[in-house]
Amino acid sequence: IRAHLTIDPHFVVGPVNRRLFGSFVEHLGRCVYDGVYEPAHPTADEDGFRRDVMELVRELGVTTIRYPGGNFVSGYRWEDGVGPREERPRRLDLAWHSTETNEVGLNEFARWLDKVGCELMYAVNLGTRGVQEALDVLEYSNIRSGTALSELRAAHGSPEPHAIRMWCLGNEMDGPWQLGHGTAESYAQLASKTARAMRQLDPELELVVCGSSGAGMPTFGEWERVVLEETYDDVDYISCHAYYEPRDGDYGSFLASAVDMDRFIDSVVATADHVKALKHSTKTMHLSFDEWNVWYQTRYNELERITDVDTWPVAPRLLEDAYTVVDAVVVGNLLISLLRHADRVTSASLAQLVNVIAPIMTEPGGDAWRQTTFFPFALVSSLASGHTLELRLDCPTYQTALYGDVPVVDAVATHDAEAGATAVFLVNRSQTEEVTLEIDATHLGDVLIGSVQTLHDEDIHAANTLHDQGRVGVAPNGTATIDGGVLRLTLPPVSWTAVTLV
Ligand code: AHR
Repeated sequence: IRAHLTIDPHFVVGPVNRRLFGSFVEHLGRCVYDGVYEPAHPTADEDGFRRDVMELVRELGVTTIRYPGGNFVSGYRWEDGVGPREERPRRLDLAWHSTETNEVGLNEFARWLDKVGCELMYAVNLGTRGVQEALDVLEYSNIRSGTALSELRAAHGSPEPHAIRMWCLGNEMDGPWQLGHGTAESYAQLASKTARAMRQLDPELELVVCGSSGAGMPTFGEWERVVLEETYDDVDYISCHAYYEPRDGDYGSFLASAVDMDRFIDSVVATADHVKALKHSTKTMHLSFDEWNVWYQTRYNELERITDVDTWPVAPRLLEDAYTVVDAVVVGNLLISLLRHADRVTSASLAQLVNVIAPIMTEPGGDAWRQTTFFPFALVSSLASGHTLELRLDCPTYQTALYGDVPVVDAVATHDAEAGATAVFLVNRSQTEEVTLEIDATHLGDVLIGSVQTLHDEDIHAANTLHDQGRVGVAPNGTATIDGGVLRLTLPPVSWTAVTLV
């Protein structure tokens, strides 16, 4: 298969916002306990955080981290997680049928974020709670001193405010599984009231209202319209969530998951802009794609639920998908889709970070290692900079059961004029054919190849596991040449590639 790509630095889509490389830590399974926090682990620091995990988080290059949920947040009382540990209550977590010990809460997590150099994006509970509790946690975390809750935070050992800028107004409130789920109208009213109250305290906050939990929801589209009509002036972002998995062995469709993500984003942008027109507004709504990943959700749904409340476990092994090569190629392609929409998607969170559908896995008392999906994320986070460019890509298509005809190759490029650096991210979705790709980079002037790294394996189901942690990685792609500004390289079947031009 032959493909041709033209890069022109004049065709700018939008700036690459570092918040696109965010992630998500939920009190779910072993994400917090035995993941981020394991005081008995040999690498644990003075606060009980695993140093080996912190090193991997830094290497991954994540920026903003959404916390504490997820479905969990819709039943959460933030006050349970602050103050002396020995006094913190154990609670039933209705979302995941687990027992929450509350050993880690807002102050510990903020401390961990300081150590790994990430920004906190905090979700308030609009499932079982409302305006007052959102105001309370805002006061507790952001007011410097001199009020009851800011002084309480200081008394709890955190004298400095957490200065949280980004706040999610609940989680997936369109989902019938969500505690406190209601209609779009009822949620929109609560979200609007909460947003306005929070802004009375601090007008500079960045607020995210819940969009749909997936484009496949029966209320998708209409939910966004109703919610935005009510909250348009009160919020800065509407959220999108999407998870993908291969169904019935249909890898052709699975490899084209980013086509679905593109359409999802375009639909939400269209709906937001429709509301903008209705309101004669000059403000443009941004999208926060604050849950996205490959998730073998069918496997999870087939598991038997723990029903006897006396046996709801603490930090059970939940949603611990072992990612393969094909999963990493799809994750790499989803990153391409997010970057392509850099003008409207200005925040995104890979769900999640440790153990739970995560790029980083840990064993209690043992190792921490990189899943296959770690590699495309880390490379995009470290190489994408400046602005996303609109590309001209000519390549054949193939037929998929779910998305019709889709291009065999997908690509995005970023260009940093100041640094004189260009990065191109590429995927070959063909399961059988390699692609010979020609990239016309003449508009970039005199450029040389910086690096070309490809993720590929003869076995698309190969994974990194506890006992084989280095099985899959990225390797230099030795096929690349450049001549007269034209780069030629080969993309193996089911592969993801990062190219830098300097
Ligand atoms: O990330 C796992 C779960 O997926 C989250 O808790 C929820 O928001 C979504 O349905």
